[in-house]
Amino acid sequence: MAFFVLPLLAVAPLLAQAEKPHVLFILADDYGWGNMGVHRRDAASTPEEQQGKVEVHTPNMDALIDEGILLERHYTYKICSPTRSSIQSGRLAVHVNPVNSAVTSRNYDDPVSGYAGIPRNMTGIAEKMRDGGYRTHIVGKWDAGMATPEHSPKGRGYETWYGYYQHANDYWHKSTVFLATGEIDACLNRMRDLSMHNETYSGPVRDAISLSAACQEDEESDPGCYEEYLFKERVLKIIQISCSSYYA
Ligand SMILES: *[C@@H]1O[C@H](CO)[C@@H](O)[C@H](O)[C@H]1NC(C)=O
Ligand SMILES: *[C@@H]1O[C@H](CO)[C@@H](O)[C@H](O)[C@H]1NC(C)=O
Repeated sequence: MAFFVLPLLAVAPLLAQAEKPHVLFILADDYGWGNMGVHRRDAASTPEEQQGKVEVHTPNMDALIDEGILLERHYTYKICSPTRSSIQSGRLAVHVNPVNSAVTSRNYDDPVSGYAGIPRNMTGIAEKMRDGGYRTHIVGKWDAGMATPEHSPKGRGYETWYGYYQHANDYWHKSTVFLATGEIDACLNRMRDLSMHNETYSGPVRDAISLSAACQEDEESDPGCYEEYLFKERVLKIIQISCSSYYA
């Protein structure tokens, strides 16, 4: 059972000028090939395949794929932080961040590239999108560096952010216990890893519902203090606001 499974990251650089399309980028972490409905369409010939067909239902993604393009021979890096650093910086993972370093790692001899995540002197996609007239927002998992403000989503050009910094997080407690990161560090293991910034505030998320894990006992399928729920609500709000300004 993995209650800390690495979740979704959505980047929604939003519209500033009417002729530009909205861009919604969703990165699903550790998403298995067999977890996509389109890969379960063939008749099942083994008990495992039959079980897979019973368990896997992704009608929304299947519909997007049916209307769009599915790249079946797309290659990516094998682990999370390098992949995310690659997407954010527009470089191959080997040229930006080949290692899933602990956030505490540091090379004192190199204050530019000697931290986990993207080296400070690289430009990110959000900065480029903003230069191109977009509004930029990010929700979910970051995992592309947090050693200095420059490493954070704010420093990388996102106008707003709501999410967690490290490789993984506990969905209920929003903390980075050993189980979530594999790292033993007395201070880090006590950290609640959920923060945000907007125009007027930058720091930890403070509202009572987000900080609570009480809904763990709820029977409903989409409880209000669950981290994925909080991310979903935030993304929907961003989409709603940008669409209303678009149609205004
Ligand atoms: C960034 O800094 C590193 C040193 O940490 C240096 O080797 C590299 O050339 C610099 N890259 C850019 C794009 O400035
Ligand atoms: C920014 O976030 C803070 C903390 O959640 C909130 O109180 C404030 O209303 C937000 N400001 C804007 C402009 O959305």
